[in-house]
Amino acid sequence: MAINNKLPLLLLLSVVILFLSRTVLSDTDEEDVLFTGINSYRTSQNLTTLNKNKNAECLADELADQFKNKPCTNETGSATVPGTEPQFSDYPNILAKCHLNVSDTRDGSIMPACVPRLESSLVLTNFTKSQYSMSLNDSKFTGMGIGKEDDWIVVVLTTNTPEGNYSPATKQDSNGFTFSVGLFNYLLAFMLSFCFFLC
Ligand SMILES: *[C@@H]1O[C@H](CO)[C@@H](O)[C@H](O)[C@H]1NC(C)=O
Ligand SMILES: *[C@@H]1O[C@H](CO)[C@@H](O)[C@H](O)[C@H]1NC(C)=O
Ligand SMILES: *[C@@H]1O[C@H](CO)[C@@H](O)[C@H](O)[C@H]1NC(C)=O
Ligand SMILES: *[C@@H]1O[C@H](CO)[C@@H](O)[C@H](O)[C@H]1NC(C)=O
Ligand SMILES: *[C@@H]1O[C@H](CO)[C@@H](O)[C@H](O)[C@H]1NC(C)=O
Repeated sequence: MAINNKLPLLLLLSVVILFLSRTVLSDTDEEDVLFTGINSYRTSQNLTTLNKNKNAECLADELADQFKNKPCTNETGSATVPGTEPQFSDYPNILAKCHLNVSDTRDGSIMPACVPRLESSLVLTNFTKSQYSMSLNDSKFTGMGIGKEDDWIVVVLTTNTPEGNYSPATKQDSNGFTFSVGLFNYLLAFMLSFCFFLC
C-alpha cells in the first residue's frame, strides 16, 4: 500500500532527475553552432573545412576558464588590439594539462571572444567579421577546437605540420570523462529512487 502510494512520485522524481542531469550535461550547443558556422565560412571562401582536434579543444577549454572572470569590453576578445593580448604566466602548465608543449602549438592560432550570453549570431561574426577572419581564411589551418566558459568562447586553430598539429596525442579520451559523469548522474538518480522506494 505504502509502496503503491509512492510509485507515481518515484517515477516523477526519476524523470526530473534524469532531465536535470541531461540539461546540465548538454553544454556543447554554442560550440557546435560555432563549429558549423566557421566551417560554412571556410566553404564560402573555397577552403577545406576544419576537423575537430581534441587537444586543441582541451586547450580552448582551459583558456576559456582563464578568461571567464574578465569583463567583456570593446578592447577584449576579438576586439583586442594586436600585441596587447593577455599573457598567462602559467601558460606552459596550461599546455601541459592538455599534453601539449610550446613547440607543437607554435603555428596554431588562439582566438578568444567575449559575447554576453554567447548570443550565437554575434559569436559567429566576432570570428568571421573581426581580425580573426584573416586566420579563418588561411588555408594552412586544418583543425580546430572550441571551448567556452560563461561569456567567453575560445577557438584554437591547428595545422598539419609538427609545429602546429597539437598532437603528441596521448590516449586521454575526454569522451570517457563525459561518459563517467553521465553514468554518475544516472547512478545517483537510481540510488535516490531506490532510497525513496525503501523509505
Ligand atoms: C569560389 O569558387 C567559385 C567557383 O570556382 C568562384 O565563383 C568564387 O568566386 C570563389 N569564391 C572565393 C571567395 O574565392
Ligand atoms: C572603448 O570604449 C571607450 C568608452 O566607452 C572609448 O573611450 C574607447 O575609445 C573605446 N575603444 C575602442 C577601441 O573602440
Ligand atoms: C562581438 O561581440 C560584441 C559583444 O560582446 C559585439 O558588441 C560586437 O559587435 C561583436 N563584433 C563583431 C565583429 O561581430
Ligand atoms: C580570404 O582569402 C581570399 C584569397 O586569399 C581573398 O580573396 C579574400 O578576400 C579573403 N577574405 C577575407 C574576408 O579576408
Ligand atoms: C614537445 O613535445 C614533442 C613531442 O612530444 C617533443 O618531441 C618535444 O621535445 C617537446 N618540446 C619541448 C620544448 O618540451
